[in-house]
Amino acid sequence: MTGIIVYKSKYGATEKYAKWLSEETGYPCVPVKEADINEVARNDIIIVGGGVYASGITCIPFLKKNLNRLKGKKIIVYTCAASPYDKKFFDALIEMNMKDDLKDIPVFYCRGAFDLKNMSFADRTLCRMLRKAVAKKEPKDRELWEGALMECKEDEACDWTDRSYIKPILEAVQNAGL
Ligand SMILES: Cc1cc2nc3c(=O)[nH]c(=O)nc-3n(C[C@H](O)[C@H](O)[C@H](O)COP(=O)(O)O)c2cc1C
Repeated sequence: MTGIIVYKSKYGATEKYAKWLSEETGYPCVPVKEADINEVARNDIIIVGGGVYASGITCIPFLKKNLNRLKGKKIIVYTCAASPYDKKFFDALIEMNMKDDLKDIPVFYCRGAFDLKNMSFADRTLCRMLRKAVAKKEPKDRELWEGALMECKEDEACDWTDRSYIKPILEAVQNAGL
């Protein structure tokens, strides 16, 4: 069985998981923007990763665009977000992103990172505005990722990445190879 990891990562968390997966599986990892679909489609197992931005998983457009080329392949998706894992949050994320032909693709959750000082100006401004709005909410009324956003200080990076998140992804790869 051959495989490849294709990922889209803005600030590096999804890329970190792609590299860990690559170390464990021996599969090469490549950013979406450098991925040649002819090369990708030569593999039996395709792991596709993307960060979550405003509830959208960034690798989904790549998957949608190329799904026809990947028919018959074992596709596995993983996603990286600031929110702690929660079934309700994760189910809603899947419902929103994995529609129609994507419905049967397994998706795995890996918690990401959040670093206001190293964001683009636009993202930092957006997050600061959101923090101001969220600060007015009672903690119990905050979305999980809003809570994570408030937990991070302006000048401190929050990093929740953890290699143990890739364990179930590796199991899915192993099962696909059986
Ligand atoms: C503008 C912006 C929007 C975000 N939206 C969400 C969100 O809706 N839910 C969430 O859990 N995390 C959200 N995050 C956090 C990212 O998912 C997190 O930083 C993740 O690690 C990004 O992965 P990447 O660095 O590989 O792109 C957002 C971050 C930014 C900067």
